[in-house]
Amino acid sequence: MQHELSGLRDNIISEIKNASSLAELEVARVSALGKKGKLTELMKELSKIGDEERRNIGSELNNFKKEIITLIEIRKRQFESAALNAKLEKESIDVTLPSRADSMGSIHPVSQVIEEMITIFCDMGFVIASGPEIEEDFYNFTALNIPPEHPARQMHDTFYLGEGQKSDKKLLRTHTSPVQVRTMIAGHPPFRIIAPGRTYRKDYDITHTPMFHQIEGLVIDEKTHLGHLKGCLADFVKAFFEVQDLPLRFRPSYFPFTEPSAEMDIGCSRNAGQLKLGGGEDWMEILGCGMVNPKVLEASGVNSDRYQGFAFGLGVERAAMLKYGIPDLRAFFDSDIRWLRHYGFGSLDIPSLLSGLSR
Ligand code: PHE
Repeated sequence: MQHELSGLRDNIISEIKNASSLAELEVARVSALGKKGKLTELMKELSKIGDEERRNIGSELNNFKKEIITLIEIRKRQFESAALNAKLEKESIDVTLPSRADSMGSIHPVSQVIEEMITIFCDMGFVIASGPEIEEDFYNFTALNIPPEHPARQMHDTFYLGEGQKSDKKLLRTHTSPVQVRTMIAGHPPFRIIAPGRTYRKDYDITHTPMFHQIEGLVIDEKTHLGHLKGCLADFVKAFFEVQDLPLRFRPSYFPFTEPSAEMDIGCSRNAGQLKLGGGEDWMEILGCGMVNPKVLEASGVNSDRYQGFAFGLGVERAAMLKYGIPDLRAFFDSDIRWLRHYGFGSLDIPSLLSGLSR
């Protein structure tokens, strides 16, 4: 057996040394140490020999086994580092290649236009106010001189929430005008606020969506008059549309919360479906406005003998459509990424409006 062992030793070691790849090394390992490997078989023979001899040969076999395992491990590392070196040798990294572009989000036209409007009005000295979208009847209607059963309520197609009498039900505000009332109740005149925000009406067609945005404006002081209203809104639309000689007209209208009331139109022309601002023979309505009805002042705790002023409400989507040539209102809220890539704005486009304000 001693003799057998030394022959086997040479044989196994040379197999390991001659292996020229990881795969061949694995073959050599299995042929020596596998279940039916040469060394394994030899170990099985141990049971057949005498005690004395078994002790000697047994320990020799064990040492040999350890030796082989170490040898295999060393060869394995050699192959692995050679493979790694070859890979490094072969692959090179071109550090001058441009990196993959990050896909950037863009700013929705509604957000962009609200930012632009805020910039213009804040430049004029307005501050921003806000109110809840889930509103009470009192602020949305009653305090604005629209008592229960008033026909103007029908015009608003209101979403009511929950059960109960209409008069104490919560509702989704149908306009931003309740912020006028909330602001006046909470503070003291003078007021000069704008209130941008979401508004809701049961309506859906090419020019209406159930949710849309408005910007409300309110100016209250002791001597604020119709001339201020006109000058303020004329300055605003010229800055916003960036057209200096934009034709304007105020058309008499009716809102329960203003007296007198008007709608403001801007001049435009339509050519083969293309809308162009300024000049031309057509008019486009862009906002409602008027002198705040003294009844609204009184309902809001403001002394109407001493204070007066004007208010206006402007549709954000409509203004965005006009300024940026967006044809369909409904697409604003479809969340179609292709639409947003086309009509959206980069973060650095947030308005300086330098050209529009010409300052
Ligand atoms: N709240 C009115 C509307 O939604 C607009 C408006 C606001 C009119 C303020 C006059 C004064 O139609």
